Amino acid sequence: MTAFVIQTNNLTKTYKKQAAVKNLNLEIQKGDIYGFLGPNGAGKTTTIRMLLGLIQPTRGSIKLFGKELQKHKMDILSRTGSLVEYPSYYGHLTAVENLEAIRRITGGPASRIAEVLEIVQLIKDAKRAVKGYSLGMKQRLGIAAALLNNPELLILDEPTNGLDPSGIQEIRELIKNMPRQFGITVLVSSHLLSEVEQMAEKVGIIREGEMVFQGRMEELVSKASSGFRLSVSDPEEAMGRVLDMGLDGRIRGQLLELGPLTDAQIAELVRHLVEQRHDIYRVEEKRKSLEDIFMQMVGEGSAS
Ligand SMILES: Nc1ncnc2c1ncn2[C@@H]1O[C@H](COP(=O)(O)OP(=O)(O)OP(=O)(O)O)[C@@H](O)[C@H]1O
Ligand SMILES: [Mg+2]
Repeated sequence: MTAFVIQTNNLTKTYKKQAAVKNLNLEIQKGDIYGFLGPNGAGKTTTIRMLLGLIQPTRGSIKLFGKELQKHKMDILSRTGSLVEYPSYYGHLTAVENLEAIRRITGGPASRIAEVLEIVQLIKDAKRAVKGYSLGMKQRLGIAAALLNNPELLILDEPTNGLDPSGIQEIRELIKNMPRQFGITVLVSSHLLSEVEQMAEKVGIIREGEMVFQGRMEELVSKASSGFRLSVSDPEEAMGRVLDMGLDGRIRGQLLELGPLTDAQIAELVRHLVEQRHDIYRVEEKRKSLEDIFMQMVGEGSAS
């Protein structure tokens, strides 16, 4: 039997007849980093608020750690850490003082404050007033706060929103370590596939409140690929080789345009061309945007 840390059954939230979340069946296993993706207004925050017991579902059920959220709310929430939208702090207080204020409410040992500041790499700035922090530092402090109660599950709503690439990278590295280092399962939402692609093995995509894809990241990425472009020294000759190998393609200027290929096919083609003394300048994957993938999935009617 699979141990789901989060499992929802036909989870639905309706606002004035308008469904913000429709029949959502989330399945997140222990140790997963689950990327919860969808464009603005898709229903990510609404779902997360329901998972955290902040709002009531209109319909459907939520199980966390195999228990009904409704019946075991206190127990479940004491095992969960979260960061929803922008966290607010006392600006004139330091990181340590802010965390101390939270710890007084949630409990736990005082020694945990230094531990969580270490995890999010804020030790050096721990005694500075938070109002002087960058957005990235504030988000990391939010994650530190979410880790205070030693959670088994971390739910992060767009933790990288508004950060620059290096800020995004820092948060990503932090999240990546959670299952490995601390055994924490993570649900992280984002409206950008590229942002979660490098950390999540599992992904759920919602669009207008409905799940259009749930599965392994590899599976999604292969759907995102619409083909490859090869820049080679002799396109005409190389095209002959491509066709010899039974692959489809065409020449466009100095480039070969090929259809979707597996890693093994690309490797074989490159090896073959190099053996034939072709110079390969570039191998580019043509990728669709997240929205294109949504369209493709909805168009194919594979929404589940
Ligand atoms: N309290 C509310 N009352 C009415 N409608 C709401 C309420 N909260 C959310 N909605 C609607 O539900 C839909 C989903 O919103 P939600 O905030 O969950 O989306 P999101 O995926 O988090 O978007 P974003 O990427 O912009 O944060 C939107 O159409 C929104 O307008
Ligand atoms: Mg949101």
